[in-house]
Amino acid sequence: MLRIVCVAGARPNYMKIKPVMDALERRGAEVVLVHTGQHYDESMNDVFFRDLGIRPPDRFLGVGSGTHAQQTGRVMTAFEPLLEELTPDVVVVVGDINSTLACALVTAKAGPLLAHVESGLRSRDWSMPEEVNRVATDRVSDYLLASSPDAADNLRAEGYREDQIHLVGNVMIDTLFANLERARATDVLDRHGLTPGGYGLVTLHRPANVDDPEVLAGLLKALGEIAGGCPLLLPVHPRAAARLAELGVPGGIRLVPPAGYLDFIALQDSARIVLTDSGGVQEETTALGVPCVTLRDNTERPITVEQGTNVLAGRDPARIVSTVTRVLADPPPARRPELWDGRASERIAEVLLTGGPSGQRARPTDTAS
Ligand code: UD1
Ligand code: UDP
Repeated sequence: MLRIVCVAGARPNYMKIKPVMDALERRGAEVVLVHTGQHYDESMNDVFFRDLGIRPPDRFLGVGSGTHAQQTGRVMTAFEPLLEELTPDVVVVVGDINSTLACALVTAKAGPLLAHVESGLRSRDWSMPEEVNRVATDRVSDYLLASSPDAADNLRAEGYREDQIHLVGNVMIDTLFANLERARATDVLDRHGLTPGGYGLVTLHRPANVDDPEVLAGLLKALGEIAGGCPLLLPVHPRAAARLAELGVPGGIRLVPPAGYLDFIALQDSARIVLTDSGGVQEETTALGVPCVTLRDNTERPITVEQGTNVLAGRDPARIVSTVTRVLADPPPARRPELWDGRASERIAEVLLTGGPSGQRARPTDTAS
């Protein structure tokens, strides 16, 4: 029986790791869930364990917040002795947060095979901390588990071997489909006095959007204009909370605490439009067929623009308003990407437990660039 350590640390990790853990356990693997503690608020953490039915972590590293180096270093320092004690066969990391990179680096030097779920996504924007985390994590991974063909193509272009690259589909959509009916049964719209199709949903948390008050003020100006025709609900990420409170928001925008998973899925599902800088939300709106305007200049998830409902608007207020006006008048057609079918985690389990269709377990080699 293989022993597999699954790592999670922050909000966008929980919905990715849950279906992978379940698929591995269904096939008889021993799974150890390690939580780094990067996110810790009830509304950023505990609610997801409850909503998604994730068991309490087997190990908790409790690293909390800090600078990039502090956070990454604390995870590495705590994870290293744990790996030595647990001696797993494989470590699974998901996404692109600091905890992902920290556990990847430790694993690469400790011996177990390393699997990266959501491998190959590239924004090509090196000012994003996540881009550094993605590229560096992939470089030390044995199994590169890609959610879309463009991600697999990025990996090929960077020189990774074919037997390392596995196009498995999108685990986030596994969790979305598994929970959509439960989400639709919540009373979240009533609680906020909203009607289906009668509001827009907003999330903002990228450092490039929320850390600089001038940039954030520009975004709020645009949102204020949009809210004149379509009231907006904005569940506030803790990173943005203080700055939003300082600046104040225009009328028509309602600030609420971060939403739990089921509530947030229901809010997306019934929204007329979603405005966001989140990675995961671009994917969920595409799977739900809800129009999405992304408040960034680039995306590491181009398939949501090419095949889904996502439109990039950048950060210029006038362009955001004109893009939203256009999208509301003429919403992009919805097409769900192939392999975003609710079965990605099954494919991952197949790869990790049998070595994949080729039956091989791959090690990174110097052939990768
Ligand atoms: C992190 C990830 C980002 C991801 C986002 C998802 C990195 C580099 N960034 O960004 O990729 O999109 O999570 O939400 O890993 N805070 C709280 N309570 C919490 C957690 C954070 O108040 O439970 C506050 C703290 O002031 C902290 C700040 O938010 O300093 C930022 O948290 P951090 O985990 O460093 O980065 P995020 O911006 O959340
Ligand atoms: N999400 C949530 N409540 C919120 C905002 C987001 O449950 O108030 C969910 C969302 O549905 C998606 C995930 O959190 O599943 C995305 O996480 P986030 O936007 O924090 O990170 P990113 O995807 O940008 O890394």
